[in-house]
Amino acid sequence: MFYYYGRKKQIIRHYPPPNYDTIIEPFAGSAAYSLYKDNWQKNVILFEKDKKVANIWDWFINEASVKDIKKLPDLSVGEKSSEFLHIIHAATKMAFHFKTIKVTPILARNWEISKRVFADNLYKIKHWKIINSDYSEAPDIIATWFIDPPYKGESGMGYRYSSKMINYTQLSQWVLQRKGEVIVCEGQCADYLPFKPLLELKGIAGKISKEVIFYRSTKSSTNEQLNLF
Ligand SMILES: C[S@@+](CC[C@H](N)C(=O)[O-])C[C@H]1O[C@@H](n2cnc3c(N)ncnc32)[C@H](O)[C@@H]1O
Repeated sequence: MFYYYGRKKQIIRHYPPPNYDTIIEPFAGSAAYSLYKDNWQKNVILFEKDKKVANIWDWFINEASVKDIKKLPDLSVGEKSSEFLHIIHAATKMAFHFKTIKVTPILARNWEISKRVFADNLYKIKHWKIINSDYSEAPDIIATWFIDPPYKGESGMGYRYSSKMINYTQLSQWVLQRKGEVIVCEGQCADYLPFKPLLELKGIAGKISKEVIFYRSTKSSTNEQLNLF
């Protein structure tokens, strides 16, 4: 929905489509999976531990109208903003710790694009739920679980609740207990589940980063576990 460090928008087509009526994103961020194609029509439940991020969702879901969004002022290059929704548009992992940001031409342009995206997509999210809490508080229900935690190691640092604060052994046990299907996103340092290669991304200065995936579906009626991916 919004610019966000680590968002999955550019690669979301590579993940399996949801097979259940409910999608849960226990590490919501900007929730690219739930917004992709028709996924938004499902019962979408987001969990996000960072209160500032959860508050943005709360505003979009429970308060904002298209009129409110169109009234959001444009940003002028050089001005300073302390609005968190502006700050995360810098899409850098350091942004989570900035109190203010100086508007660059790129940020002003990103904000202009985002306002259009907000207005065009607002109707899709009005039935969604956002819960400001730890992933482990999510209900134990049958769903498509799109699990995109801060990646283990360096690339998951930066977030207010970063990879340093996650116990990945506990996370892997929790993942394996989910009912329905789980899609777990990770990077090259991930070793806590049997991940498989998904794709390689070319970053700045040609640096390659590897995306890996863990997919598992549990047939709830027979409790039979199928490895479909
Ligand atoms: C990689 S980002 C998710 C990106 C998202 N899939 C997207 O497309 O924008 C991970 C998110 O998990 C949140 N987070 C970190 N620790 C958490 C926890 N223990 N419980 C819930 N959310 C957490 C971070 O604040 C961050 O927003």
